[in-house]
Amino acid sequence: MIRISDLSYHHGRTQVLDQVSLTIPKGGITALVGANGAGKSTLLSLIARLTPLQTGSIHVGDLDVSRCPSDMLARNLSILPQNTEVAPRLTVRELVSFGRYPYHKGQPTSEDHTKIDAALQDFDLTPLADRVLDTLSGGQKQRAYVAMTYAQDTDYILLDEPLNNLDIAASRSLMQTLRHLSQEKGRTIVVVMHDLNYACAYADHLVALSNGKIRAEGHPSQVVTNGFLSSVFSTDAHVHHVDQVPVILV
Ligand SMILES: Nc1ncnc2c1ncn2[C@@H]1O[C@H](COP(=O)(O)OP(=O)(O)O)[C@@H](O)[C@H]1O
Ligand SMILES: [Mg+2]
Repeated sequence: MIRISDLSYHHGRTQVLDQVSLTIPKGGITALVGANGAGKSTLLSLIARLTPLQTGSIHVGDLDVSRCPSDMLARNLSILPQNTEVAPRLTVRELVSFGRYPYHKGQPTSEDHTKIDAALQDFDLTPLADRVLDTLSGGQKQRAYVAMTYAQDTDYILLDEPLNNLDIAASRSLMQTLRHLSQEKGRTIVVVMHDLNYACAYADHLVALSNGKIRAEGHPSQVVTNGFLSSVFSTDAHVHHVDQVPVILV
């Protein structure tokens, strides 16, 4: 699990996170939702130590994020930041092999190649392995970025808005792959997403942030109600249910 205690964060005078305490359960998919500017990306980068802590503490499993050595953190937790762009002339295989960097430090071993092949396979990228990123569709490219993150082979995987710009088929395919990785391979996956219908359909746990505070958390079927949409997202959209899954008519 990821344990966050009394986490506050300021950007200059702006308070971005305000005494956040939160436990993200081990295993499954946790969706992190909230309006633009709520603090989701800041929270994710603090968990991954891309941003140094100001106050509070974060533990990923047994690791204290503020203290553990970088290579140990990198073997336990990977992150795909929002709007990641790596060199567009790389091939898919080269991109995915970056995910192995914490292990090979530039000199991939046969084990690294095996893991790279497995990541390509798991994300249906084998036929595209030698294609240059520039020549891929948005959905294919996004899958390649997520595969790079997955190739890092960590128990905890953080993804910041991986569904951005994806059509329905690409979004469903990515979420189904993430579900498979969480259920069959025991990974703990935290995904920032905007579309609550995807969160309801695929997440095991949902955490809602607004104005730097946690406003709700729990199973989507418990959390996502008309009152929740109104208080967290300031909208009067209605929640319906299909097979007990909340569905928001937009
Ligand atoms: N580098 C920065 N400098 C100043 N303010 C920032 C910076 N990054 C983010 N912020 C502010 O922090 C708040 C939270 O941002 P962010 O974590 O990116 O939100 P979200 O990912 O939920 O949209 C916003 O008000 C944003 O303007
Ligand atoms: Mg963000």
